[in-house]
Amino acid sequence: MNLRIKSLDDILATAEKKSLHRSLGGVQLMLLGIGAVIGTGIFVLTAEAAQKAGPGMLLSFVIAGFVCAMTALCYAELASMVPVSGSAYTYSYAVMGEVVAWIVGWALILEYAVAASAVSVGWSNYFVPLVERAFGFRVPIEFAKGPFAGGVVNLPAILIAGLVTALLYVGTRESARVNSVLVAIKVTALTVFCFYALPAVQSANFEPFMPLGFVGVSGAAASIFFAYVGFDAVSTAAEETKDPQRNIPIGLIGSLAICTVFYLLVASGAIGSIGAQPVMQSPGVGFAPGTPELVAACKIAANAAALPCSDEALAHVLRQIGATKIASLIGLAAFLALPSVILTMLFGQTRIFFVMSRDGLLPAAFSKVHARFKTPHVITLITGTSVAFAAAFLPVGKLADFSNAGTLCAFAAVSIGVMVLRVRDPRRPRSFRTPALWFVGPAAFLGCLFLFYSLDITSKLVFLGWGALGLTVYFGYGRSRSQLAPGRSGG
Ligand code: ALA
Repeated sequence: MNLRIKSLDDILATAEKKSLHRSLGGVQLMLLGIGAVIGTGIFVLTAEAAQKAGPGMLLSFVIAGFVCAMTALCYAELASMVPVSGSAYTYSYAVMGEVVAWIVGWALILEYAVAASAVSVGWSNYFVPLVERAFGFRVPIEFAKGPFAGGVVNLPAILIAGLVTALLYVGTRESARVNSVLVAIKVTALTVFCFYALPAVQSANFEPFMPLGFVGVSGAAASIFFAYVGFDAVSTAAEETKDPQRNIPIGLIGSLAICTVFYLLVASGAIGSIGAQPVMQSPGVGFAPGTPELVAACKIAANAAALPCSDEALAHVLRQIGATKIASLIGLAAFLALPSVILTMLFGQTRIFFVMSRDGLLPAAFSKVHARFKTPHVITLITGTSVAFAAAFLPVGKLADFSNAGTLCAFAAVSIGVMVLRVRDPRRPRSFRTPALWFVGPAAFLGCLFLFYSLDITSKLVFLGWGALGLTVYFGYGRSRSQLAPGRSGG
């Protein structure tokens, strides 16, 4: 079968022909990265990681962070060579051909769109208690949670997904400005958290460190990986970036480095101040997170204060150490700032669809640019509606794990892509070269495999099912309409 590899020169030329407005600089990109990274992972899923790993979740943060750092170094080289929208999808097209590119693009839908849904649900978890505390109005559970969490439809999640979609519809620059403010809010929130939690750390709270063994730590690493997801969204903005060769590596590596430092400090503060032991079913066996059994066990007075029993992990820690007012402010900050994650995820998704459509693999209407706003408005609306729909009905932990499966596939493709291009096209100018590539590339690839292996079985099956559906769509629609199909303009 013809692999249909797209030449890098063709990719760059197409981008020139039908391109978006270049408005983003290095600092804005870093903010875009931080905006995408710090979110539901640290604010909500820390509790789930504690249930899986106990204090060993600190190691889970290190493992997931290490895999992301290795991958970011690979991303930076590819993004600086191929500064066009589409991220891992585009790189795969140039290196491994259309089928792999399609699979990666399809996996990126899991990453970005499903993550946007997950964070919309996480936001709703903060929104509902906040409204109750502020106005004494309790949103009825039927309209506050999806069917898996005891409700019918998650209206707040639909609301936030809709608002962010509207923002993206009217333009990138405006969105980036709002994003900067929201990033400032959450960086301040995490700093304040560390300020209160770190002085309360006691070494005894780290014992026993791995109550559920290394299996617990690796399972938590696979889930908490979600906390780091998003730095790669920076590369999806390549076509809207000024001087992308310089600014994309700054955005990618800078945002990940800042977030990693915060996460390790926050996780240490949370574990060390109130402890992070899992709620046990029997000695050596913890309840599975996100199950009615754990919810029931958390209602027992002896467990109620445990970190894994909290929906608002960081606010909970502060309440336990007596900083009640600060805890409410942290909750408010999460409520205000989580939308920046949704914004970046939706932004990344629409740009990937945009490029896939430009390549002929998706309908041409997807790459229509709005006459006045200069945004890909059609696909923004379609994506926003789908994200709101998933957020309305599915639970946050599962959405995060599904998203991780797709992300790991894309990350693995990038780590292979950078190595293949070094061998195949060594002379092409690279304004950023991945240092120690023959260590970093394999480490990124094997790290992604390890984390994928450590995901729960449902997420792996969802990923396989999604992949099968994607291949059906490709062979039923995209393959014959591709720009590289015989008889087409690029073929
Ligand atoms: N990393 C992002 C979050 O934790 C997706 O919300």
